[in-house]
Amino acid sequence: MINILIVGSGGREHAMAWKIKQSPKVNQLYIAPGNAGTSLLGTNLPVAVSDFEGLKNAVINNQIDLVLVGPEVPLCEGLHDFFNADEQLKDILFVGPYQHGAQLEGSKDFAKEFMMRHQIPTAKYLSVTSGNLKEGLAFLKTMNSPYVLKADGLAAGKGVLIINDLLEAESSLKEMLNGQFGEASSKVVIEEFLSGIECSVFAITDGKDYRILPVAKDYKRIGEGDTGLNTGGMGAISPVPFANEVFMKKVEDRIIRPTVQGLQKDQIPYNGFLFFGLISCGDEPMVIEYNVRMGDPETEAVMLRIKSDFVDLLIGAADGTLAETSIEIDERTAVAVMLVAGGYPGPYEKGKVISGLDRIENSLVFHAGTTLIEGNVCSDGGRVLAVSSYGENMREALSFSYRSAELIHFEGHYYRKDLGFDI
Ligand code: AMP
Ligand code: GLY
Repeated sequence: MINILIVGSGGREHAMAWKIKQSPKVNQLYIAPGNAGTSLLGTNLPVAVSDFEGLKNAVINNQIDLVLVGPEVPLCEGLHDFFNADEQLKDILFVGPYQHGAQLEGSKDFAKEFMMRHQIPTAKYLSVTSGNLKEGLAFLKTMNSPYVLKADGLAAGKGVLIINDLLEAESSLKEMLNGQFGEASSKVVIEEFLSGIECSVFAITDGKDYRILPVAKDYKRIGEGDTGLNTGGMGAISPVPFANEVFMKKVEDRIIRPTVQGLQKDQIPYNGFLFFGLISCGDEPMVIEYNVRMGDPETEAVMLRIKSDFVDLLIGAADGTLAETSIEIDERTAVAVMLVAGGYPGPYEKGKVISGLDRIENSLVFHAGTTLIEGNVCSDGGRVLAVSSYGENMREALSFSYRSAELIHFEGHYYRKDLGFDI
């Protein structure tokens, strides 16, 4: 029996807590900082995800055996390296890459160079800084519209611009280099535009072996028909019909295996998740981006489809014995529908009392941004709840989630009613 600490506070972490809680191997479960939903499954600890000393104390005081990191920021800041350098923490099992491997998400330029080095299919690109701006502008002229500009560093999901007009792209490139996204855009990756349908593929790895988790598709735009502003994600479905066996074999042969082998060749130790943001261009998978964590809201669908003990996979990834584990996938479909605050992704209000949660029967409600105020579950973020359901097919799973969503109320709430419209 082991004690586990999950670092994070969103729907992803609540869904992971739900899955972990089903394992007979777990003694105590802690979540830092967690939310109102995770408090029903384990003990929330008031420690922020980037508070390394606070996390150290939490691990020691609660005799934690395994740490699972949800979001990318502490990984890119070197939380795993911090544990490894500490006498008291170095033997704690840790799921999440070191800072070096986390650069796959933390630097687009690092990720592109990695893919080039290991012949992993991705869009043509050029990395530009103020030092080679002229070359960047010349490169833009050789590309066709639309133009894709990406801030090199983490920019909270906002660092990608897709621009139709060349003159506008040229001025945006300069603005980005001049600090539009702060330090994150002091380097910009100019990329060829790829057109196709996207999906999210996940693997867990110990740096040598890997296990492929259920594939999912997320819906990023706020408006129905994929219109309006980008969000953190308005819902997810798993499996993805076009990501069939033939497609997934190409993904494994051309992308997943070369990535894990590439990490080994480059001597980058890696214990954790790999998230491949893919686009299918004429049935050929190309990598749009790497993330070094699970997706949100994809996790709120993916966790439902993992039949095997998730804790075995976590231990295997952390201690290098993933080869001894197996993964069994539920054949059913799982979906997550995100309920968000009115106004999101623009300005929105928090602290709205949520009602109806006790009436849900055919769905699992994962809390994305909630907190307890005077005993009431209240909204505490833009994305508030993920309503997840199983079904024999996508239509059935969605109908369960939509029926449950109708029972939940908080002032001004909104959700997309068209998930799956494109497949
Ligand atoms: P990211 O913030 O890296 O997830 O990118 C945001 C979104 O921009 C992706 O989900 C894609 O829809 C789009 N995108 C990124 N790179 C490209 C590309 N090279 N071609 C077309 N669309 C892209
Ligand atoms: N759903 C996409 C992400 O987690 O970045």
